Amino acid sequence: MFSVHQFPRSWRLISFTTEKLTSTPLWWLWSCHCHTGPDVVLQPSEQKRAFNNQVTKRHKTERSPCRPVLDLFDQQYHQELGDLWPSARSVLLDRQSWQYGVMLNRFAAVTDVTQILQSQGFSRFLPQTDVSTLLTDAPSPVSNVKYQTGKDSLLSPHCSSKCPSDDSHPQPDSTSHRLSQDIQSEVLLRLLRPSLQCYIHQYPLRFPSQAHRPGQLKQYYLLNAASLLPVLALHIRDREKVLDLCSAPGGKAIAIMQCANPALLCCNEPDQHRRDWLAKTLESFLPHSLNSKVIVSAQDGRWFGQNEAITYDKVLVDAPCSNDRSWLYSCSSQQGEQRLKERARLPALQAQLLRSALSAVRPGGLVVYSTCTLSSSENYAVVEKVLDDFPEAEPEDLWEEIAIPLSKYFAFSPAHPGHGQTSHKLSLQPQNGTVSSYHHRLGILVVPQPGKTWGPMFLSRIRRRQ
Ligand SMILES: C[S@@+](CC[C@H](N)C(=O)[O-])C[C@H]1O[C@@H](n2cnc3c(N)ncnc32)[C@H](O)[C@@H]1O
Repeated sequence: MFSVHQFPRSWRLISFTTEKLTSTPLWWLWSCHCHTGPDVVLQPSEQKRAFNNQVTKRHKTERSPCRPVLDLFDQQYHQELGDLWPSARSVLLDRQSWQYGVMLNRFAAVTDVTQILQSQGFSRFLPQTDVSTLLTDAPSPVSNVKYQTGKDSLLSPHCSSKCPSDDSHPQPDSTSHRLSQDIQSEVLLRLLRPSLQCYIHQYPLRFPSQAHRPGQLKQYYLLNAASLLPVLALHIRDREKVLDLCSAPGGKAIAIMQCANPALLCCNEPDQHRRDWLAKTLESFLPHSLNSKVIVSAQDGRWFGQNEAITYDKVLVDAPCSNDRSWLYSCSSQQGEQRLKERARLPALQAQLLRSALSAVRPGGLVVYSTCTLSSSENYAVVEKVLDDFPEAEPEDLWEEIAIPLSKYFAFSPAHPGHGQTSHKLSLQPQNGTVSSYHHRLGILVVPQPGKTWGPMFLSRIRRRQ
């Protein structure tokens, strides 16, 4: 019997004081590839010591790519991507070149982080206006809320597009201390204008990851910026019911909550260990007052469509996949070989998950299918197969909506007829009207390239017809 479990947690309330951040020198950020970076509050002398340790650690732990995986990629991707593969390969093999995005958390005060990011040359790749251009739906009613400014106001004024600084995050002020924390966070939630903000740098700088801060929400999440594209493609709006079918560790769930105030976000993850990780992520980024709106479920996603048919407005299927970046650095050849064996089973599982999502979404609703592999058998082929069995499902064009506007930052390739069979030159600089076919509506692929190292990320959007 299907059941959604209320997420048992004691979420912390938004704290109205942030810890002091020091502006971090560039040398500290440069090429710091360790995933568990230091807390951002380190003093300069400590920073330097930590930096030296990190560099030493990095040299000691620098892993070489797993040979069996690389050999298979060479064979397969040379065929599938043609001339694009050698440059994608060079990026995947040069971890020093990898870029990282910094997604801000709208539920925490982030002015200090924003200032540091800007002083280090980071900039937003999704300015407010770009997002609203991408999202063709009506603006959220929350964004129209008017509220007072001045001594008694709960929040500082929200900057419009005329604001001198583009960082229009409303920040709590000290007067709010007189309210109970619950009321504070409720009010904050109603007034905060949803906005997905991600900072990126043209060079491969790694912003330090943020340590757990007791009683405080994390201010930002580090990620591959391409992983925000499936969330953007979903067009999340206020009061919708959203299902994140394969949710752990929760990066996209956090991104969804930056975009709007859904009535419900169900984060599903069947693997216990990964579900604990997901729970920790939600607890670190979302306030207690969202407890009833963001729930965690532990189902096998393949049965969701049966158990919760026609229930959701939007469903994200960020499917288990080959994960090219991580597989390339498998711990050992044996692990790499084991993974390659599992690879053959993935497309069947992915197709089942996508079918289940299409059953769980209401007529007129949207499903976004995404993976972080370049493999066409896990991408276009899965979408094509599922569309064949699902006449109510219609693929939508993401080329004009996402690939063209964001081609300054990401290298995109559309699907081509015969994908996976022949080598072909793919368009990295999409031009208006260059691609318009059924095949191109199967999805778009972000291919890592020098200077645009984001991805791999495949995304396809499917609407369930009325
Ligand atoms: C690519 S990861 C998801 C990443 C996540 N969306 C994020 O942004 O942090 C895929 C997840 O699917 C989960 N998964 C594997 N089999 C599944 C199934 N049958 N149903 C639902 N989820 C599954 C895996 O445990 C894994 O956590």
